[in-house]
Amino acid sequence: MSLKKTRAGLAALTVTGLALGLAACGGGTDDAATAGGDDLVTVGFVAVGPEGGWRTANENNVKAAFSKEAGFDLKYSPATDGSQNSQITAFTSFIDEEVDVILLSATEATGWEDVLGKAQEAEIPVLLLDRGIEPDDDSLYATHIGPDNYSISVSAAEWAIETFPEGANYVVLEGPAGLSVVNERNRGWDDTMADATGFTKLESQDANWSTDEAKKVFETMLKAHNNDIQLVFAQNDEMGLGAAQAVEAAGLTPGTDVKIITIDGTKAALQGLIDGQLSFVAEYNPLFGDTAVDVVNKLLAGEEVESNIIIDSVTFDSAEAAEAALPDREY
Ligand code: AHR
Repeated sequence: MSLKKTRAGLAALTVTGLALGLAACGGGTDDAATAGGDDLVTVGFVAVGPEGGWRTANENNVKAAFSKEAGFDLKYSPATDGSQNSQITAFTSFIDEEVDVILLSATEATGWEDVLGKAQEAEIPVLLLDRGIEPDDDSLYATHIGPDNYSISVSAAEWAIETFPEGANYVVLEGPAGLSVVNERNRGWDDTMADATGFTKLESQDANWSTDEAKKVFETMLKAHNNDIQLVFAQNDEMGLGAAQAVEAAGLTPGTDVKIITIDGTKAALQGLIDGQLSFVAEYNPLFGDTAVDVVNKLLAGEEVESNIIIDSVTFDSAEAAEAALPDREY
């Protein structure tokens, strides 16, 4: 049963939501969660679904945060084969079911205006998790929560410039075209590299976040450029590890002949840094489920929230840094 409908209804929810929020944050009694009984706050999660280590960590963290103990009934709806149409269908169903809140991790950056408008009309707040929308119109959603792709890519490019004072030939292995995170990572990297000397971007290609695809793509790139590539900017860990496999298949040594940068910071990437497959790993912290719960409780209590909430992330530039972090790594 959903607690919300009209603005008056939302006022009623405010009290309950606040109590639920306190329970969720451990600041109040847990009676609120049980007092609500079946009056849990219903949350529709329009998710990406299985995609790789980062996605699994992020979606599991969100599901764990929006628990029944915290006062939520989370309805998880992963995309079918990554299709935006399946996400729009799920999004529309959640509106029809009159859930209290919708969480959206979009498989495409564009094409959301219509359903976001419908959610607004139904007075259902929408939180964008990880992925943004383009063109960005923050009147269409309550907030976006995620690390800052642009600055993460700037830090990757700055490491590359510092590591190659004479410059280098490099390639970019991108995530699927049309994603906000891919566009933001490209912008951060390209804006920073624009001022660098001696660097040549030989080519960039979509390797679909995939280790196998990245291995195939980079094998072809190495052949096409007679192995004269010293640097790879891989926009996620899986693709960077695939590039490392291609380097070894070509009889070259990762870290020596070709340095590989990745984004995400999964355990596999930190191990790759320790083993020498990777040279720089920029974390894209997926663990923001509690932040999303806090925002939902604030919204349900009628409080203002920031339109963009940036999740802190760190970088790893050595095997020693990775070794120090790995034992406590949550993902
Ligand atoms: O949107 C975040 C990206 O999606 C991650 O960097 C990647 O691993 C995931 O598939």
